[in-house]
Amino acid sequence: MQHEKIMKSLKLLSILLLLGTVRSAQSQGLLTSQKIEQRVDSVLQLMNLEEKVGQLVQHTGFWEFTGPVPDGDRATSEAEKIKSGKIGSMLNVVGANSTYNAQKMAVENSRLGIPLLFGYDVIHGYKTMFPIPLAESASWDLEYIRLSAEIAAKESAASGVNWTFAPMMDISRDPRWGRGMEGAGEDPYLASLVSVARVKGFQSDNLANRFSIAATAKHFAAYGFIEAGREYNTVELSSHTLHNIVLPPFKAVVDAGVASVMNSFSDFWGIPATANSYLQRDLLKGKWGFDGLVVSDWGSIAETMNHGYAEDLADAAKVSLEAGSDVDMESGAYESQLKSLVEKGEVSMEILNDAVKRVLRVKFALGLFDNPYKYSNSADEKKFLFTEEHLNASREIAKRSIVLLKNESKLLPINKEKKQKIAVIGKLAEDKDTPLGNWRAKAVSNSAVSLLEGLKENAGSKLTISYEKGYELTSGDRVFSMDLTFAEDKGEGFKGALSLAKKSDLVVYVMGEDALQSGEGRSQVDISLKGRQVELLKQVLQVNKNVIVVLMNGRPIIEPWVYENAPAILEVWHLGSQAGNAIADVLLGKYNPAGKLPVTIPRHAGQIPIYYNYLQNGRPFDKNRDPKFVFWSHYNDEENAPQYPFGYGLSYTSFSYTDMKLDKESITTAEDVKVHVTITNTGDFDGEEIVQLYIRDVVAKPMRPVKELRGFKKINLKKGQSERVTFEINAETLGSYGFDGNYSTQKGLFQIMIGSHSEDVQMKELTIK
Ligand code: NOJ
Repeated sequence: MQHEKIMKSLKLLSILLLLGTVRSAQSQGLLTSQKIEQRVDSVLQLMNLEEKVGQLVQHTGFWEFTGPVPDGDRATSEAEKIKSGKIGSMLNVVGANSTYNAQKMAVENSRLGIPLLFGYDVIHGYKTMFPIPLAESASWDLEYIRLSAEIAAKESAASGVNWTFAPMMDISRDPRWGRGMEGAGEDPYLASLVSVARVKGFQSDNLANRFSIAATAKHFAAYGFIEAGREYNTVELSSHTLHNIVLPPFKAVVDAGVASVMNSFSDFWGIPATANSYLQRDLLKGKWGFDGLVVSDWGSIAETMNHGYAEDLADAAKVSLEAGSDVDMESGAYESQLKSLVEKGEVSMEILNDAVKRVLRVKFALGLFDNPYKYSNSADEKKFLFTEEHLNASREIAKRSIVLLKNESKLLPINKEKKQKIAVIGKLAEDKDTPLGNWRAKAVSNSAVSLLEGLKENAGSKLTISYEKGYELTSGDRVFSMDLTFAEDKGEGFKGALSLAKKSDLVVYVMGEDALQSGEGRSQVDISLKGRQVELLKQVLQVNKNVIVVLMNGRPIIEPWVYENAPAILEVWHLGSQAGNAIADVLLGKYNPAGKLPVTIPRHAGQIPIYYNYLQNGRPFDKNRDPKFVFWSHYNDEENAPQYPFGYGLSYTSFSYTDMKLDKESITTAEDVKVHVTITNTGDFDGEEIVQLYIRDVVAKPMRPVKELRGFKKINLKKGQSERVTFEINAETLGSYGFDGNYSTQKGLFQIMIGSHSEDVQMKELTIK
């Protein structure tokens, strides 16, 4: 049945190819053109079976390709494979020289001279590091997010890399999962816009441009819903949540022309994602018309055996290719099995050809057939990496990623013009490495500006900055070891920290997570802070009440005591190369923070999963109910509400939202309606505000969430200034996906909400007739 369907769609594909019209329904045509299709076909016709299989094989580089092939069987055989066209792409081979040499082996020695793709995890920068993706998403600043990806692409493209395994767009509602740091948070609307901005930054409007690289939408699909937040675990997910929460960002980037998609280590509805035809054939390549390539995750094709799905490596290769996994990253299944599977007729030539074409299409679109060495230019590599321009951009983006969580008694910003003694306390304040975050590509260790350096550099002459590390934070071998047990902190730094706090006017207390506590393979059951950081903070607060907490972390942190007792809190995440300068800009009021949380911060790990766009249950929370009546949806020992809701973030100034108005109270499905609200800067500073629009379909079948973000605008207001902000809404804005994955809008009553975060909104009603 499945096979028949595939054959039918492949037949259709070949007819369309003949007509020269193949392109995805809404794709912007970055990959396909009549010319590219003709060239792809002409190369395909020349290829023998081995060469076709070769295009689907991806290996990791395990030696520097900068000189002669090193001695040893493995290296010799790898070089031979490249030279004979048995490898179509490499990952982790980077640098202008290395990629040049590896490319030369392929282009000058293989029969058809087909160039290699060089893939790499360029997640938030190549050498200049930008904030981790979750942090950048807190800026809600699509133009800066695009710019960050554009610069990452430029540095990569200058260093031989033509394909990034980013952006990651897995929606997750579980901060125990370490990989939330790579994504855009919990909301599908925000994640869609952020991911499209990233794809545009990486790919520009033309993949053939010198500094464009192919982007990868990952991980398809539902990896963020692994049970209990435990890495690589199984996934259980409704079709409702799949279509409305998980898939929209992927659909958005496919429509924007993303060149590749990576599937996921996880399973979906009892089938490994890698071998999942429903996801990859029916939806991605079928319904959505995706014409780029699908790459497996590392080893995930062979792992279909571990899942208990494929019988052996041959079966793994067969089920994965048939399900739409075009390229085998490092599992060896296609390399060792595909040729004989096709020869025996167990895998059809049509399916193989389709996969090969997808790879060739990306290579053509990147311009590699015209100039295979386009990306390997050592002069560019010298010129364009870690430049002042890139570092300045990193600082701009970093300061916009900071979220002000609390500012009691207006401790912030620190007044630079007043003579003050500032105590900086906390090991992370001097850390030049942690701000680089995980997935740091070619960042040089310890190359970030530390908070301490940034503050000293920018403090001016009236502030005296003194430092005590206070607590210890160590994590063993940080790159390859899983050992994140912290060295015992005997509290030796406490005394110095307390005496400094006592004699200072103000304390900046820096606490958080090591860079490698979040990221792949970094799930935690306990997402409170490790070591003795909180214990020392408690003691510091006893000797000095004026404490500004700076939280540096890769995931939401659960520390209710800190949130409730520290008078001022800045969430600064892991901000990249310019972290210290960006944090200083905010601490000293040179930049007024405007970031808003792209994720909910729970109060207690027992509340997970906790997120703002939930479906209402039959016995909802009601604070007026008799507390002795237990039969309603609540915990006996904790509130339902999170610590901080989605979309939350303060400013040094304040904003009022008044005169919310809808142009019409009801519309037909063909009409638009405008929603207006006046925002006034009512405080003492100029500042930016992210105005958020939420909707609720009040009665729907199936049910809809209590709130769904469907619009936002970032505005900049001077002190005392007002602006009338307008959103346009139509039936499209108010729709949702059904169980079948089709989008539609139901008639009836809607609530339209505007506010400063998901729990602070004003509401007007709108009817769709
Ligand atoms: C495994 C990760 O899941 C994926 O995101 C990454 O791109 C590959 N490894 C390659 O490093």
